[in-house]
Amino acid sequence: MIMDLTNLLYGVEGGVATVTINRPDKLNALNHQTLQELGQVFDAARDDESVRVLIITGSGEKAFVAGADISELLEVAGDGAGAATLAGFGQSILRKLDNLGKPSIAMVNGFALGGGCELALACTLRTGSNTAVFGLPEVSLGIIPGYGGSQRLARIAGPGVAREWILTGDMIPAAEAHRVGVINRIFAPEELKEGTMKMVKSILKKGPLALQFGIEAVLRGWDMSQGEGEVMETEYFGKAAETADMKEGMAAFLEKRKPVFTGK
Ligand code: COA
Repeated sequence: MIMDLTNLLYGVEGGVATVTINRPDKLNALNHQTLQELGQVFDAARDDESVRVLIITGSGEKAFVAGADISELLEVAGDGAGAATLAGFGQSILRKLDNLGKPSIAMVNGFALGGGCELALACTLRTGSNTAVFGLPEVSLGIIPGYGGSQRLARIAGPGVAREWILTGDMIPAAEAHRVGVINRIFAPEELKEGTMKMVKSILKKGPLALQFGIEAVLRGWDMSQGEGEVMETEYFGKAAETADMKEGMAAFLEKRKPVFTGK
């Protein structure tokens, strides 16, 4: 059950849950409360069978999320153990997206810096406005990414790109983020929502279990050799073959009709 939300807006419509981080006056920076609320809505989206896809976006024209809340970060300056706990907390919230059992999409409408970039990287897919700006500027503050970003960026875009972003702390224009594969699909700002929904609609037509298995196969394979990954892939392939959705998908193809998937 979702408690009262102060820093987020959350709604479900037509199988799509939308989370909007809603602190526009602070460029949607992730303070402790916002992270805690994100944890609540991620759990709710995971448990709600009517939710097929989760979209995360930022409120206002300017930012997706401009990072962890720097005023809160300052409180752990000089306290290594406290800072590590804080990073662990943020990581545990973002990890919930790995275990959602359904696709998550970061719809990046502006600055996605630091923790905001890490939140976007934790989503299954990312769409972006061509005016969005990515970056991991933590080194400018004397720290490094702490919400899984150094690991996820290296896995999504490769260690060379991760080193570049982390060591320079540069603001990365959307076109460059798209070029290196961080943004999957890029749109003009006024087309971001429609373009994202087009991708969502295509995902909604697919079997929920096949989507879940596809997400898990890629994610689990990140930590495996090619050989181990292929063994794991065969297990998911076998699991998919036991679903009613596989029979329906193949029958629909042969009968030249659209499949009706039930998630069973
Ligand atoms: N944490 C806390 N507050 C933040 C924030 C963050 N990460 N990012 C922005 N804000 C706040 C600003 O302090 C400001 O608050 P104020 O109006 O009470 O002073 C408000 O959001 C607007 O930001 P501002 O800096 O005035 O906007 P800008 O357009 O001049 O600059 C940025 C935009 C994104 C370039 C700039 O805000 C910035 O560099 N933010 C920090 C990015 C960062 O280092 N993130 C990583 C943190 S680990």
